[in-house]
Amino acid sequence: METTTIEETKRQYAYMDEARQLVAGEAARLGRPLTYHVTTFGCQMNARDSEKLSGILEMIGYLPGEEEEADLVLMNTCTVRENANQRVYGRLGKLSSLKKRRPHMVIGICGCMMQEEDEVERIRTSYRFVDLVFGTHNIFRLAQLLTEHFQNRGMVVDVWEGTNEIVEDLPAVRKYPFKSGVNIMFGCNNFCSYCIVPYVRGRERSREPEDIIREVRKLAADGVVEVMLLGQNVNSYGKTLKQPVSFAKLLQEVQQVEGIQRIRFMTSHPKDLSKELIKVMAESDKICRHLHLPLQSGSTAILQAMNRRYSKEDYLRLVKCIREAIPDISLTTDIIVGFPGETDEDFEETLDVVRQVRFDSAFTFLYSKRSKTPAASLASQVPQKTAHQRFDRLLKEVQAIASEEAKRYEGCTMDVLAEEVNRQQQGMLTGRLSNNFTVHFPADPSMIGKILPVRLDQCCGFYYLGTPAE
Ligand code: 5AD
Ligand code: SF4
Repeated sequence: METTTIEETKRQYAYMDEARQLVAGEAARLGRPLTYHVTTFGCQMNARDSEKLSGILEMIGYLPGEEEEADLVLMNTCTVRENANQRVYGRLGKLSSLKKRRPHMVIGICGCMMQEEDEVERIRTSYRFVDLVFGTHNIFRLAQLLTEHFQNRGMVVDVWEGTNEIVEDLPAVRKYPFKSGVNIMFGCNNFCSYCIVPYVRGRERSREPEDIIREVRKLAADGVVEVMLLGQNVNSYGKTLKQPVSFAKLLQEVQQVEGIQRIRFMTSHPKDLSKELIKVMAESDKICRHLHLPLQSGSTAILQAMNRRYSKEDYLRLVKCIREAIPDISLTTDIIVGFPGETDEDFEETLDVVRQVRFDSAFTFLYSKRSKTPAASLASQVPQKTAHQRFDRLLKEVQAIASEEAKRYEGCTMDVLAEEVNRQQQGMLTGRLSNNFTVHFPADPSMIGKILPVRLDQCCGFYYLGTPAE
């Protein structure tokens, strides 16, 4: 396993060399450098994958550019809900007319949606102008696929059903120089009954802790102060390794890395969140005061039908335990409305949990039927109108609570990581608190990437206006 992975990395660097020559040839023909644009749909995992894809493209000589003018356009897709798919097809229509004007353009489509046979078939038959099609398991092969396309023209399709391989040490470009996502595991074994992720991202595979620490060290040496550890279910990290390691242990190792000042992670499954993790978080001054803990529903019956493996009471107990140990924690969540069989009473249970927990923010979703998932074949689908009404009620409740909760830090001074220039207001920067709240404050752009104390003068619903403290 170890040697095949290293060999694969070497093989891909060889393809990058070959692709670089082909790209240089094309650039000479056009008399200008080639540009690329990657559009990302979906979650943080996809965002990180896009950074890796961009890393390969820059390695072979492409420069970043706008989609309208780019010589290579790549769409990294999501399929978690139906509307994500529709947006991709809408965008493909636009790309088709761009390509008519600029036939040398390369169009690629990859990510979760391409792990579905029907979607690949639809691209093959109705979107023949697409040049590259690949899935989630083989993004490391981009240079190889591009080389094949340059040599043979025509559509190159390479979608793997699954993999055991984790190919290390490939290039990546970061959106922010001072913070980075770090994959710690891939795939998911939970099979929540509504969720397509286990079918498109495959079984759970954890990276070796040494590989993760090596990457974090490299990032720190490169100026990164904040890492976000990424996985579909980080709380079950390490269980499938030859020498199992817990997520809490991994966090303890990551926080030893010199230069790393903040650690975040995403996403936690309530059923796997351990006492050990709560303790490690409580004792740490580097692990951020934020937990994203998807609730999905407040009804025990619906949770059971969702195969979530916790009850309403388990969830509430867990929240209590977390808040006792870490009183300044910010809790956020995901909630699905209109799961098949959801009654008014079930929905009231969800509202009840929302009112009891008082989340700092919540992503609310209308249930979306996904093919292959067990919930798709349930008979009692909720009428659209009912689902929409519930959704609106939930959203109102969630927003009212979140903006009330945000006020609790008004007047306090807290550390902020300055992240970017505020485009709306001149002279202002936008930064983030450890608890993930956003703050706008006056400061010089040279402060970007630094952590500084800021007084939170005014809470404006979902963000603060502040001033740097002396
Ligand atoms: N319908 C609606 N929302 C979904 N999610 C996952 N699958 C579906 C679906 N079929 C939501 C869950 C998950 C988040 C990433 O997306 O709330 O936590
Ligand atoms: Fe989907 Fe559940 Fe896995 Fe999250 S934990 S990705 S909701 S199956």
